[in-house]
Amino acid sequence: MATEFADGIKDYIDRSLQHLWIHTIQQDELSQDDALLVIKSGEGIYLTDSKDRQYIDLMSGLWVVAVGHGRRKLADVASEQMSKMSFANPFSYATEPAIDLATRLAEITPEGIERAFFVNSGSEAVEAALRMAKQWHHNRGDSKKYKVLSRVGSYHGTTYAAMSVNHSSYMNKAPFEPMMPGAIKTPSILDASFIEQVIKDEKPETIAAFIAEPISTANGSHVPDSSYWQRLRELCDEHNIVLIADEVINGFGRTGKWFAMEHFGVSPDIMTVAKQLSSGYAPIAAALASEKISDGFRGDASKALVGGSTWGAHPVSCAVALANLDIIADEGLVENSERTGAYIASQLEELQKRHSKIVSDTRGIGLMQIVDLKRNVEAGEEFRIDDEVGKVVSQAMRDNGLLSRGGASIQIAPPLVINREEADEIVDSLDQVLDTVESTYGIG
Ligand SMILES: Cc1ncc(COP(=O)(O)O)c(C=O)c1O
Repeated sequence: MATEFADGIKDYIDRSLQHLWIHTIQQDELSQDDALLVIKSGEGIYLTDSKDRQYIDLMSGLWVVAVGHGRRKLADVASEQMSKMSFANPFSYATEPAIDLATRLAEITPEGIERAFFVNSGSEAVEAALRMAKQWHHNRGDSKKYKVLSRVGSYHGTTYAAMSVNHSSYMNKAPFEPMMPGAIKTPSILDASFIEQVIKDEKPETIAAFIAEPISTANGSHVPDSSYWQRLRELCDEHNIVLIADEVINGFGRTGKWFAMEHFGVSPDIMTVAKQLSSGYAPIAAALASEKISDGFRGDASKALVGGSTWGAHPVSCAVALANLDIIADEGLVENSERTGAYIASQLEELQKRHSKIVSDTRGIGLMQIVDLKRNVEAGEEFRIDDEVGKVVSQAMRDNGLLSRGGASIQIAPPLVINREEADEIVDSLDQVLDTVESTYGIG
């Protein structure tokens, strides 16, 4: 029986290596011994692989599974909606779940956000937001505005326009050049005066939109001052630039508030949301527009927003997302993110003291925390390429029951349902991971 089971696992791994194209990773690396995990089941903050090893899902999938794994309620909602009505043409009709979800989003988002354009992924939400911004200017008779500003280090997705506004080392754009004309990189995620300078240099009358994550994970989860976002809001108002807040990761409680823009008291013109909108129980995302933006699409047929998607506002995804938002609200998960996030942050500071030779910084907000490592903190020495710190840290994390992106930065973003004991379990495991990293590099 044991052999049969083992053969079954091997068969899955072999067929995965032959037929499945796993995103972003070098497939050859996966054929190395035990490199490929086949995830089989999940419960709460835990995932189990096909070899029955249990891990803490320390990045909530990809900042997705807010309500935790194994929620029967969401499966039931999907099943009920599929039985009642699985699909209706989204280019012509509304459905009840789509109306209910759009209404809820208008209620919980920052003031002024009124209308939801539903799509299937964060990239498509960014794509839709950029189309909205450009066509909004066009509808007002201003076709000179075409540039889109985004910040160094930013990540906004993989469709063409979204890729164009990425400026992250995480993505090599070279094979796809040239990018969308007018995708302009701005410096600095913490000082608005640099962005002000780029706006002036690029001629404000040519700039359609500015897009940024309120608190950027791609840039290392540094939290800007309120004055940063307030100044950006002023600059966008002054120069009639559409301000797009990309809340694809930040949204729905990840930072300890429903939306990260609430930390700064700023309302964007458009907000992009995805991931925790459904906690991953069904694919759905949205570009959420303020009244100011959606009003710009009123009038004759030529003013209607160009471009739709067959799966946009899918009734099953909308029903699941609404039930997911109910769980987040009813179980106080946003408050838990703030509370347990602060607790984890305080424990990470203790961890830094214990491992002060390699931990250079710990920071974050809510359940979006980061631990930064250096080869030698005192000497300010970074890891070298041949240190293969990514491999060393990831393996040490796996060996200690943690699944997350590991490397010189360790992401700590568990599901928002996490409790105190589980938070302690994470910190204890990280302690072991750091011991291993220290001994691997002969630091003691
Ligand atoms: C800030 C941000 N925007 C957009 C995206 C793209 O989302 P998706 O992968 O769902 O297309 C991501 C993905 O991680 C993201 O982090």
